[in-house]
Amino acid sequence: MTTAVETGIDLADLAFWNRPPGERERDFARLRRLDHLAFFPERRVPLLRSGKGFHALVRHADVVEASRNAKVFSSEPAVTNPEPPGWVKHVFGDSMVNLDDPRHARLRRIVSRAFSPKMLAKLDDDIREAATRIVDDVIAEGPRDFVTQVAARLPIHVICDMVGVPDAIRAKVHRHVDVSTAYTGVRMSLPRTVAMAGRNMAALFSLQRLVIELGREREKNPGGDLVSALVTANVDGERLTPRELGSFFTLLLVAGNETARNTMAHGLKLITDTPEARDRLTGDFDTHIAGAIEETVRIVSPIMQFRRTVTEPYELRGTSLTPGDKVVLFYGSANRDEDVFPDPGRYDITRTPNPHVGFGGPGPHFCLGANLARQEIKIMFRELFTRLPAIRTTAEPELLLSNFDNSVRHQAFTF
Ligand code: HEM
Repeated sequence: MTTAVETGIDLADLAFWNRPPGERERDFARLRRLDHLAFFPERRVPLLRSGKGFHALVRHADVVEASRNAKVFSSEPAVTNPEPPGWVKHVFGDSMVNLDDPRHARLRRIVSRAFSPKMLAKLDDDIREAATRIVDDVIAEGPRDFVTQVAARLPIHVICDMVGVPDAIRAKVHRHVDVSTAYTGVRMSLPRTVAMAGRNMAALFSLQRLVIELGREREKNPGGDLVSALVTANVDGERLTPRELGSFFTLLLVAGNETARNTMAHGLKLITDTPEARDRLTGDFDTHIAGAIEETVRIVSPIMQFRRTVTEPYELRGTSLTPGDKVVLFYGSANRDEDVFPDPGRYDITRTPNPHVGFGGPGPHFCLGANLARQEIKIMFRELFTRLPAIRTTAEPELLLSNFDNSVRHQAFTF
């Protein structure tokens, strides 16, 4: 078993994630060359439960194998690492991302109707109107920060619209989301961590309560909206309880907000730094936008890692795994695996094929919102590159120290 000490690389140490992205990529390339899985003992992180450690899945084939085989590689008790304390699960209920079938399959069946092609088509005009308003505002205000003025505004708006959050409580939802996403595993002093995690939990809990109330109200007075559809029985008699609705909404906010916004922010920087990509996009947007989105998600890997827990003895890449072992799927590393992606560091919007795992590997938990994310980014970028063809970043992004979200806090730009 290769350990942190032998490689000089320690993926369990948050200091690793504070190093420049180029250095981290070189270390992942070294780990990919090992003929077995490297093991990283876990550190104690304030407020979170630490275990004995995890095996790192850094090759594309290994991430795909573990994602496909959910029977051996379980999403329970949680896909984050380290694991949140038990009371968090108790307060927030079970989220589908942390469940295995049959409970996962039941929830996914019910909420999938929110992401059907018909539902997404209904959202199209609304997303376009929101993108137009965002660009109107940025033209009126002048360019300052691409994240707060553009990228952060669309995804949260779309999620609120999807769920039908009433206008009266939207400002409150936005405030809670800002607080709840401010803490993502950064290394801080214990008192600051406790204070921040406390605010984060309180904000998420308030959001849950808002949506549970909304669910109870729609249970009594159903309308034509999605919340009504989710809390009243479908043809098979299945429905979400208001509490499950609350968990689903917070999952959407956690899974669909930061990810889409970070893809847009990193995307503008990649396009600025790659004149060939800009020329193609501005020359023929419709031909190249789909490739640009996939390549941006590959290079950025907005979610850096998710974890699985092994349920039965299994052999993977020359390593014997035993029940209870944790494995962590490093999507960013799999997306730069030179066996699958020639010249993996190159941003090439014409890359074909592009079997990246940025939306997760193939399997039961593959991102439910992938098509919605593609739709949002396409509409936003069309609006930007049509109305502001000279739009570009003017500085390096201000990144958030995180081992989970590849998050951009601020990005200077001009147009
Ligand atoms: C570029 C944007 C996005 C990226 C990179 C992304 C990435 C991911 C990844 C890696 C997973 C896999 C989890 C696993 O295998 O354990 C996932 C699951 C999920 N995503 Fe996304 N996501 C994005 C956008 C969205 C959006 C916009 C939504 C909804 C509004 C969304 C909703 C979900 C949900 C509900 C799941 C859980 C699916 C399940 O457990 O069955 N995502 N996403």
